[in-house]
Amino acid sequence: PREASAYVRSLVRTVPDWPEPGVQFRDITPVFQNPRGLRTLVDVLVDRYFDAKLDAVVGLDARGFMIGPIVAYELNIGFVPVRKIGKLPWKTISESYDLEYGSATVEVHADACNAGDRVVLIDDLIATGGTMLAGMHLLERLGAKVIEAAALIDLPDLGGSARLRAAGLPVFSICEFA
Ligand code: PRP
Ligand code: HPA
Repeated sequence: PREASAYVRSLVRTVPDWPEPGVQFRDITPVFQNPRGLRTLVDVLVDRYFDAKLDAVVGLDARGFMIGPIVAYELNIGFVPVRKIGKLPWKTISESYDLEYGSATVEVHADACNAGDRVVLIDDLIATGGTMLAGMHLLERLGAKVIEAAALIDLPDLGGSARLRAAGLPVFSICEFA
């Protein structure tokens, strides 16, 4: 697992000043492009949740959709998308959260899981934690038990993972960038 983390981390591409000056964007596309990178990241997550008796994997829009379904497939369970507002056709519940400027809203279908279901949240990266926290609130409102928030990358200096843990949600990340 230590080598797996270091290997995945070595494939993340850092793009300076994108999408705006001063931001170091951590780009996961090279991890996915690399067959061993993709297999390694999926294997880490599948091993971690193999015995967790999960009922579903919940993926966060949009890059959680690249990871979550593969893990769900390997665990033989279903996949639930949490989407940005206005994309889901059926009855939804929504959660809004603050961004640096303005706010964002995410939604899940009202029948996306059953009360008591055990789920894990998956996304590519945790920055402020706002997205994962909104996902946790949505799934808890559906009666699910959110076991953990999992990401490829944590940016601990932005405080998101600490914020999630403070809210009672365990956090797992494959690697970190300070
Ligand atoms: C990024 C990232 C996470 C979220 C993390 O997505 O993929 O989903 O932000 O930030 P947070 O911890 O501060 O909430 P983005 O909003 O850029 O959307 P995208 O996946 O549609 O590109
Ligand atoms: N990469 C991907 N998503 C992000 C980042 C990043 O560096 N920062 C905030 N969201």
